[in-house]
Amino acid sequence: MTQNTETSFGYFDDENKEFVITSPHTPLPWINYLGNDGFYGLISNTAGGYCFYKDAKFRRLTRYRYNNVPMDSGGRYFYINDNGVVWNPAGRPCNTELDFYQCRHGLGYSRFIGRKNELEAELTVTIPLEMNAEVYKLKLTNNSEQTKQIGLFSFIEWCLWNAQTDGENFQRNLSTGEVEVDGNFIFHKTEYRERRNHYAFFACNKDIDGFDTDRETFVGMYNGFNNPQVVSANKAANSVAHGWSPIASHYFNLQLAAGQSEEIVFMLGYCELSRENKWQALNQINQTPARELFAHVDTAKKFDHQCKRLRSYWQECLDVCQVNTPDDRFNRSINIWNQYQNMVTFNMSRSASYYESGIGRGMGFRDSHQDTIGFTHIAPAAVRQRLLDLSATQKQDGSAYHQYQPLTKKGNADIGGNFNDDPMWMILGTANYIKETGDWSILDEKVPFDDNSQAVSHFEHLRAAFNHTANKLGPHGLPLIGRADWNDCLNLNCYSNDPNESFQTTEHRKDSVAESLMIAGQFVLYGQEYVRLCQHIGMFEEANAAKTHIEKMITAVEQYGWDGQWFLRAYDADGKAIGSHKNAEGKIFIESQGFCVMAGIGLENGKAQSALDAVEEHLACDFGIVLQQPAFSRYDIALGEISSYPPGYKENAGIFCHNNPWICIGEAMLGRADKALSYYQRINPIYLQDLQQTHKTEPYVYSQMVAGKDAAIPGEAKNSWLTGTAAWSYYAAVQYILGIRPDYQGLSITPCIPKSWPSFTVQRKFRGAHYQISVHNNSSDKQGLYIDGQAIAGNTIDSAKYTENHVVEFYIG
Ligand code: GLC
Ligand code: GLC
Repeated sequence: MTQNTETSFGYFDDENKEFVITSPHTPLPWINYLGNDGFYGLISNTAGGYCFYKDAKFRRLTRYRYNNVPMDSGGRYFYINDNGVVWNPAGRPCNTELDFYQCRHGLGYSRFIGRKNELEAELTVTIPLEMNAEVYKLKLTNNSEQTKQIGLFSFIEWCLWNAQTDGENFQRNLSTGEVEVDGNFIFHKTEYRERRNHYAFFACNKDIDGFDTDRETFVGMYNGFNNPQVVSANKAANSVAHGWSPIASHYFNLQLAAGQSEEIVFMLGYCELSRENKWQALNQINQTPARELFAHVDTAKKFDHQCKRLRSYWQECLDVCQVNTPDDRFNRSINIWNQYQNMVTFNMSRSASYYESGIGRGMGFRDSHQDTIGFTHIAPAAVRQRLLDLSATQKQDGSAYHQYQPLTKKGNADIGGNFNDDPMWMILGTANYIKETGDWSILDEKVPFDDNSQAVSHFEHLRAAFNHTANKLGPHGLPLIGRADWNDCLNLNCYSNDPNESFQTTEHRKDSVAESLMIAGQFVLYGQEYVRLCQHIGMFEEANAAKTHIEKMITAVEQYGWDGQWFLRAYDADGKAIGSHKNAEGKIFIESQGFCVMAGIGLENGKAQSALDAVEEHLACDFGIVLQQPAFSRYDIALGEISSYPPGYKENAGIFCHNNPWICIGEAMLGRADKALSYYQRINPIYLQDLQQTHKTEPYVYSQMVAGKDAAIPGEAKNSWLTGTAAWSYYAAVQYILGIRPDYQGLSITPCIPKSWPSFTVQRKFRGAHYQISVHNNSSDKQGLYIDGQAIAGNTIDSAKYTENHVVEFYIG
């Protein structure tokens, strides 16, 4: 347990796998995610946030206003009126100074403890397994010597389902809102009379003394969430909303004797009904599913039981891979928080966070594929399904929709495709899945293309992806970049001087010849996997044809993609080199160094080493590796969005953390363990605990970006949680630093650890077996792999041979 320091705002409780926040006034809201399979909630350290069913755009249950003042306004609020003193268990929105405040963000739950005037409120918030509901348990304890008479109010505000129109179409919205109140159940049924076959409800297990469902009645037209008029009056108004803004609030008039406690359980749930079963009488909704759902948690005991189930679920997830190295922070990250974030990025892609509004991006094609590499070992079946869902959004020509909506699983037409790195990520995702599971049958699954045309095997989708890339080459034999490659903001075909245009979807030069060295490296790297897949299923001609494409690509990279000391980044539409020493700005970029080295290009002739040395010299800084240098000082129409950002931010020379692990992997491939580990540590927030005042975002998860050396405040992070950094950092650390790397025939052990680490151990469940692995460094006598005491040739544990439990030793000289 790291101790709390003045600037750290909290500490890690490793035993309970929690981060404990000790101030409601963190530099930014520090949030947690609830739910792991379809129903999700975002919850801040002051209980702000919202929840939704499957899709943060189409099925938003509660309202949340992004870009609000104060920033984090709207959430699940409980108000306590203790003799005129009004406060919240989680500190906000009243902001009443508490005698004690604590927020414990754990795996799939958050717990808040607030104390004021000898009254303690403990609020636990979670989404139980397999339940479409958030549940809350509030325990109030009177620690004083007198009886207390307390007013307690629950509060949530309904979103009118579609989060986008909820924030736009007020002329309609203000008339459609409908609720039904029946005892302790408050139902939200806006649009239920017409096309919606779903409703939401907010219920509790203790008889109420009143309720409110009309926001203005509860809050007061000119009040804020911090001083609702009903709470000040300490009496519910029993308002029934007709249009305007429906809310749900329960009111209790509680008497607590000295020393007495009371626990109340609440459920905010979601029900889908068949059209025939929607009503129990004219305009009276069928309440049965809601009441059945609530019956699972309607006592404190049942609630606690669900919490226990969730805890064991997470234990099982994490137990698949547990490491013990000499570095505690490495262990904490790999064993708990990084894996946790991997699940969240897998579930959310880039859709809903405190920085992604839930209505913008849906599931990213490239992002979702990359997210699987940190998650396949935890939930292979979910990954399999995701890979097939993604495959079904692919177009017949092998290209892809850049994003899709999780509810409909259909590609988003408004953004479209032509991001030319998209297709090759399919091969990464599938190869990685097979390596983890040994399940080759995924290749035979029949999957349609986006237009629902005849289903072909998933393998055919991968073939289409490979060929699409192989055949879209420019004048140097390098892949055409399209709208953009991994770097959304390097827009070589946009040419826009019109602020009303999107950089990414306005292609002014559709026939453009701009080429990408990042895609070239990616094509070689995942092309090699494609060859191995072809060989495995006996398609040798296809494998050989693919090899020829790859060899040609390597030649093209060596011939036209090498700048003398590092790899170029791209050729623009006029054939001018980008990322060359000849440029005044943007001389060197990180992406092509990472991808070409990971692809193995230049490993033999020194180019790989030279490229990574150049990264160290030009791009590395204390907080990580910046994306390119020198930063662009002015907008350049030929480069697009990248040059729109102020220097040091985002793609314009920010530390775009997602790509740092590529360099870490490259360093491990070169055998430079100290550098690999150092790059890994620099962007990992767990190592920055005492820098929170600068770093600002949550210390337990990665952020998309940390401001670079050219920025006003280097080291300041932004956009936490939903970033490819999570999966990639985990992958780099476990598979390349520790070298515990799934391969087609088994688990290979290829560590690259610093001399200062004498040894480490890994508990790994793999394809039904359990390996207890110890790696010994600086070994003078033994070398290589031993299984159950027997020396084994090579460095792979053959999973067909070593089923069940085995003791594995690996010695490094
Ligand atoms: C964002 C996007 C990702 C992209 C990256 C670089 O993280 O989600 O798709 O690769 O930015 O532009
Ligand atoms: C913006 C962001 C970039 C992100 C992209 C996604 O351009 O700057 O980071 O990847 O949007 O569409």
